[in-house]
Amino acid sequence: MCRNIILIGKSINLNKNELFIAETIALFHDIGRFEQFKKYNTFDDRKSENHAVLGVKVLKESNVLNCLQKHEQELIINPVKFHNMQKIPENISSGCLLFSKLIRDADKLDIFRVVTNYYLEKDKNPNPALELELSDAPEYSHKFIDDILNCRSSKNNLKTHNDMKLFQLTWLFDINFPKTFLYIKKETILKK
Ligand SMILES: [Fe+2]
Repeated sequence: MCRNIILIGKSINLNKNELFIAETIALFHDIGRFEQFKKYNTFDDRKSENHAVLGVKVLKESNVLNCLQKHEQELIINPVKFHNMQKIPENISSGCLLFSKLIRDADKLDIFRVVTNYYLEKDKNPNPALELELSDAPEYSHKFIDDILNCRSSKNNLKTHNDMKLFQLTWLFDINFPKTFLYIKKETILKK
C-alpha cells in the first residue's frame, strides 16, 4: 500500500511532506481490520462493522498521530474514514479530497494484486475470508454487467464469486489518476 501510494503521489508531484502524509494514510488505512477480526472473526463489514470507521476509532484512541499538527491529523483521519465509501463525500477540503483519491486508488491496486494472485491459485489454497464466504455457483447477477456497461461503480448485493469479480471490475470507473490506469495496464490486471 505504501509503495502504491508513493508511486501515484510522485506521479502528481507531491512534495516530501505530502508523500509522508500519503504514506501514513496507506499504512493505517486498514488498521481497523485487526480489531474487526479480533472482535467478529470476519473481514466482512456487513456482518460486523465498517472497518474504516473502526480504524478511525483505533487511531484516535491510540494517540499515534498526536505528534502531528491538527490539520495534518485531519488529512490522515478523513481519508482513512472515506477509503471504503462508495463515493467520497462532497464539501470536504481540497487536501482531504486529494488524499482520499490517492488512498482509494492505491487500495484498488492492492486489492487487484491480492485477488488476481489469489484467482491464479485458489484451487490449491482456497481462502473463504477473501471470498466473503460467497457461493461459487456458476452464476452472476445482471446488475453488475449493467454497471460495467454503463460505466458505474456501485455496491450491490453480492451473491457469487462471479459477482465479486464483476464488482471488482466496476472499480475501474472510480479511478482517479493516470498512473493507476498505467499500473493496471502494465500488470495486465483485467486479463488476470
Ligand atoms: Fe479497507
